[in-house]
Amino acid sequence: MAGGAAFAYAAIVERNWFALRRYDVPVLPEGARPFRLLHISDAHLTPGRHRLMSWIRSLDSLDPDFVVNTGDSIAHRQSVQPFLEALGPLLDRPGVFVFGSNDLYSPVPKNPARYLWRTSALDHSRHETDLPWAELGAGMVAAGWLDANNRRGRIKAADIDIEVAGVHDSHVDMDRYDEIAGPADPSADLRLGVLHSPEPDVLDRFAADGFGLLLAGHTHGGQVCLPGLGALVTNCGIGRSQARGLHRYPADPADQAAGRGGAERPWLHVSAGLGTSPWAPVRFCCRPEATLLTLVPRIS
Ligand SMILES: [Fe+2]
Repeated sequence: MAGGAAFAYAAIVERNWFALRRYDVPVLPEGARPFRLLHISDAHLTPGRHRLMSWIRSLDSLDPDFVVNTGDSIAHRQSVQPFLEALGPLLDRPGVFVFGSNDLYSPVPKNPARYLWRTSALDHSRHETDLPWAELGAGMVAAGWLDANNRRGRIKAADIDIEVAGVHDSHVDMDRYDEIAGPADPSADLRLGVLHSPEPDVLDRFAADGFGLLLAGHTHGGQVCLPGLGALVTNCGIGRSQARGLHRYPADPADQAAGRGGAERPWLHVSAGLGTSPWAPVRFCCRPEATLLTLVPRIS
């Protein structure tokens, strides 16, 4: 009885109880005006999720200067148009995206508890892509967003000059950091790295190249958390304490002495994401979220 009530709460109430997180990030040059960056991730959209779609659409009222989508946007072959319509006016703003593995492969039933002993890395290695990821990417590119899957680019948004570098998803072995490697331009106002899964070996390379703000998703914040304990698993290489939210990378400054984190430990924001796999439609103590990062000048 209690288990049924908990499942109903997690599947019906919390899964639709969207939260807007806000953080200030001191990453801009001295004198720069505050810059509003909206970070969305892991919508896993199926066409019937009208509440999720209308909430995404409502985020335009935050008047963001820039939008970053760190992938796993769709979970159904018919989800591309609904997802683009959900973005709606956000597509008229400057933006950038990378894919997650779930943009390429339709979801399959799995035992969610397996994440307690292993990650989803290479889960998809045995079958062909079957979701319209190219159509999804083309829709965002047509609106003017930068495709940052193993690409670098330069974007001017508001009066901020942004150097962007991104990689495709490492969980399906499609990340090619070597193709984007090289020092970030120190004259850019913002050096931004985007990736779906926050894997330490990729984060280390962004950090070594001087990218000061790194944005990722994938973890779902643990998706099912325990009060007081937080995430049980991250489904990737970072620790549970960094499963969601804003942190320095690496979390422990001592790791910098061991060669991680570059000359300056970058800021890492991990989104707990907007959705869930259709086969694990629950969230507990881990509300679905989007994040408004207000970038402000560095503290000297
Ligand atoms: Fe996801």
